[in-house]
Amino acid sequence: MNKNKDKNRDKNKNRDKNKNKTQRTQIIIIGAGPAGLMLGCLLDLAGIDNIIVERQSKAYVLARIRAGILEQTTIDLLCEMGAGERLKKEGVPHHALILAHRNICTPVRLPELTNGKFVTAYGQTEVTKDLCDKRAANGSQTLYQAENVTPCDFDTTQPYIHFEKDGGTHKIACELIIGCDGFHGISRQSVPQAAIQTYEKIYPVGWLGLLSETKPVSLEVVYANTPRGFALCSMRSHTRSRYYIQCALNDRVENWSDDAFWDEFRRRLPPNLAEALETGPSIEKSIAPLRSFVAEPLRFGRLLLAGDAAHVVPPTGAKGLNLAASDIYYLHQAIRAYFADGDEAALTDYSTKALARVWKAERFSWYLTTMTHNLSDNAFDEKIKHAELDYVISSKIAQQVIAENYVGLPL
Ligand code: APR
Ligand code: PHB
Repeated sequence: MNKNKDKNRDKNKNRDKNKNKTQRTQIIIIGAGPAGLMLGCLLDLAGIDNIIVERQSKAYVLARIRAGILEQTTIDLLCEMGAGERLKKEGVPHHALILAHRNICTPVRLPELTNGKFVTAYGQTEVTKDLCDKRAANGSQTLYQAENVTPCDFDTTQPYIHFEKDGGTHKIACELIIGCDGFHGISRQSVPQAAIQTYEKIYPVGWLGLLSETKPVSLEVVYANTPRGFALCSMRSHTRSRYYIQCALNDRVENWSDDAFWDEFRRRLPPNLAEALETGPSIEKSIAPLRSFVAEPLRFGRLLLAGDAAHVVPPTGAKGLNLAASDIYYLHQAIRAYFADGDEAALTDYSTKALARVWKAERFSWYLTTMTHNLSDNAFDEKIKHAELDYVISSKIAQQVIAENYVGLPL
């Protein structure tokens, strides 16, 4: 009996010891994608303690292949956090985007239509690597392979997370939890349904993408609409191409040999590009669905959402990564104001400011998607789409609207 009492007393003592050992930081960031890593680097710069907690391994995070067109404001932000050196050397500037329709290529010249602005091709994989390297140099903590991360008590002033890692359960207390854990993450799902409003549009198609060590067929990004569906030509470098074709939503990568991809892709290009196309073995092939999604607001007490956790765009305007960057720009300013003067209103303002820019990018991505894809079997919709393309091709003013959005609206 006494032995048991002693055992229990020891157990309680240990529990108390562990309680005292609860780790503390100022900001917990859930997710080490571009949004989480960018925020971490900006907080380091401001001297605000932060810990990133990520479900996957570092190798997994670094291997993900996604879009690669950066607005100048994204580049400026990466430079500000000290992660822009390689990008400045290796990024490939794009001074136009090309609309291909009825076998004719029409360049939308960016600097000419936007007072000198343009975009830069630099893979998201490289952005993530640069941010990880910067984070390592800063000496900040990233906990990879953290399972069952759970944000708790964010409706109080003492939020915390718990998670499992290396066979143990862990708790970290903080001032704010930032959900940068992507569309399928836990942060948005933790918010009570009554507190959040979501808006969604699912498109009836996907993109089949192929990466290859081949010379890009065009030095500028080509958006092609054809009777067979949409095709896109992009690049990662002067020796590495990234191409996409619109495919059925339920299509599978296994259905597409490299040869089948190249055949279909070539058939969707205007003749001059089809002739010049260099083909080769794929390094990566994947299918992604097209979706527009926004959650409102972005603040729930001491939990704030940013990046894909809060909104998703179809990839047609290349806005996903750039929107994550603009969220983080507004958010890091709000967090700084909050720690400098206890300015709670700044956290709410973050939501309002970021969402205003998000909706404009949602509109643009939806517009470019609808105009360049075959989405409807309604003959009227088809006619309108062609009229829109013909209008854009013939109107400098319409092209200016596209250019202004493509290079990125001001922050
Ligand atoms: N716990 C911890 N981490 C998680 C959890 C979870 N429950 N769920 C998801 N994550 C991690 C993912 O493994 C991923 O590394 O959160 C990260 C989210 O990264 P992204 O999906 O890349 O989202 P974000 O950083 O907002 O990216 C913005 O970049 O990746 C693109 O399509 C994305 O264009 C968008 C932009
Ligand atoms: C890409 O390079 O992967 C890319 C470019 C432009 C887009 C989407 C993706 O609109």
